[in-house]
Amino acid sequence: MIKKTMGLMQRVARRYTRVPVDSTRHPAEQYYAQIYLDEIRKRLAEHGGEGLRVLDAGCGSGRIMVPISQLGHHFTGIDYHRDSLRMAKENLDAAGTKAELIEKSVLDALVTMEDNSFDAVFAIESIYVDEQYDTILKHMARVLRPGGLMFISHRTRFFYLGKALAEGHFDDVALIARHNHGMLRKGLHRFHYNWQTRGHIERTNASLGLTMLSLTAIGVCSGFGSDPLTAVCDPGTLDGSQKKVLREVETCDDDLVMTGRYVLAVSRK
Ligand SMILES: C[S@@+](CC[C@H](N)C(=O)[O-])C[C@H]1O[C@@H](n2cnc3c(N)ncnc32)[C@H](O)[C@@H]1O
Repeated sequence: MIKKTMGLMQRVARRYTRVPVDSTRHPAEQYYAQIYLDEIRKRLAEHGGEGLRVLDAGCGSGRIMVPISQLGHHFTGIDYHRDSLRMAKENLDAAGTKAELIEKSVLDALVTMEDNSFDAVFAIESIYVDEQYDTILKHMARVLRPGGLMFISHRTRFFYLGKALAEGHFDDVALIARHNHGMLRKGLHRFHYNWQTRGHIERTNASLGLTMLSLTAIGVCSGFGSDPLTAVCDPGTLDGSQKKVLREVETCDDDLVMTGRYVLAVSRK
């Protein structure tokens, strides 16, 4: 009972008290967005077809949704944060493009959607905080049409191991090493997170009937804010040519793919 009440309080706190940042304007977020956008544009171009129906679960202020909708695709963006959707609307208007915006939790919106109704589904740096992670992924696969593409950005196990060690939360390390979700320390409180290994992603894909096309690392030697690798390199502090070097370093070795801040998994249904 106490655990359930704590969980509910945290969901409410995440939804209503966080002041969202417009990530389309944040310099480090822009650097990471470019890595996502290059991979997404490449995959959608290979996929072919114009005017694709795309679902963005946890669209935030539209860092990914706005530039991809400018290619002529039809977006449905879901976010439970009203201020994020307000910023998304402003960014869509400024870019001269449109999307259907739904102010709901991803799961509440997904359960109302029909099977096979999207050509592509995105969850970029969004649902890893959700306790219903597996259920959300099941619904995302359900609403994706056969042959459609799924783009999920997962937190890696390596990220949370690094964060727990860097912050001295040694009591979280065993949980992170042995499981792929749980309550982790953040400041004075604990919050629910999900994190993945390559094996977890492959097993989830298999259970959802998806074929993995690629894994792309997002930030293997860098970070910002409270990320464990911020002290190594913060892309928000770099000039254009330095960012280019960092990007080459961060994408040069497949073995590092599961050591990033996130990993973008692209799969086909
Ligand atoms: C870090 S932002 C990422 C936004 C965007 N996808 C991007 O890459 O810039 C995460 C967003 O997901 C939203 N979010 C997280 N879990 C959600 C859920 N269960 N339902 C609806 N929105 C959610 C948050 O409100 C936030 O706007």
